[in-house]
Amino acid sequence: MGIVTVVGSTNVDLVAQVQHLPRPGESVGNAVYKQVMGGKGSNQALAAARGGATVNFVTCLGRDAFGQVSLKSLVDQELKHDYISFSDEPTGVALIMVDRDGENMISVAPGANHDLQPADIDAATRAIEQSDLVLIQLEIKMETVRRTMEVCRQYGTKVMLNPAPVPAGGLPEGFLDQVDILVLNETETERILGYPVFGGMELPKIAKEFRAEGVGMVVITLGRKGCYVSSADFEGFTQSFPVKAVDSTGAGDVFCGYLAAGLADGRPLSEAVRFATAAGAIAVTRAGAQPSIPHLQEVIELIMQ
Ligand code: RIB
Repeated sequence: MGIVTVVGSTNVDLVAQVQHLPRPGESVGNAVYKQVMGGKGSNQALAAARGGATVNFVTCLGRDAFGQVSLKSLVDQELKHDYISFSDEPTGVALIMVDRDGENMISVAPGANHDLQPADIDAATRAIEQSDLVLIQLEIKMETVRRTMEVCRQYGTKVMLNPAPVPAGGLPEGFLDQVDILVLNETETERILGYPVFGGMELPKIAKEFRAEGVGMVVITLGRKGCYVSSADFEGFTQSFPVKAVDSTGAGDVFCGYLAAGLADGRPLSEAVRFATAAGAIAVTRAGAQPSIPHLQEVIELIMQ
């Protein structure tokens, strides 16, 4: 069993299931409302734990009612919660609308997530040192992400980055040479490159460019079309599992968490990607971010079908 430290956000997701997503200025009524746990960091941490890893979660919550709800949820899950800090800012909230085809719109108010400080990473040095891999997203401040990468470099711990969301100006110069494993979808790829990615033909070239910047493994997720994977040992497209999509919220996080668990456990990249793809496929068949995260047995059953 591998050890994964996840450094990232926790949000309370306020979800409205609607018939169709509103246009600017339009009100859509008759929504079904749900409050569920989310945030890319928290989703990925729980997915890695369900994928079989021992998981330390480094995050920041507000001292408000949502902070209490989040803390209870994290404590109730299989995550090690020694590295949770608290802020006077409100706990992160995501306002989410999901239509009947499973498409979504998400607006995030980061609040306390932007109060996760480099000093909080220093306080988690022991966890990072003992981890096989540290998994980071970009819903926290860049200086905290950078400090995480520095500590990983200091102790030789692998960095897996899911650059979501990509900052408005793209990634800072030289950022990717600190990354061992890069996992991103087509939209994130386009935002980083600054030009559209049409079809799959150019993906080998794009992955090669990321690897030339210092990244060891690149996984570009393509939804129902599977993934493009590039590493020293494996290069090529991998397939998805045909499922009926209900809600894609958090499915990318499930993929990242399961992939981290597989790699931390020492599995070959192609096998870890297969598990992650199956876990992500199950997640899109269910509503909500954390309620949709499958258990390992369900993932194994889908792979064996
Ligand atoms: O990736 C899905 C997540 O993005 C949601 O849970 C929401 O909180 C936003 O952070």
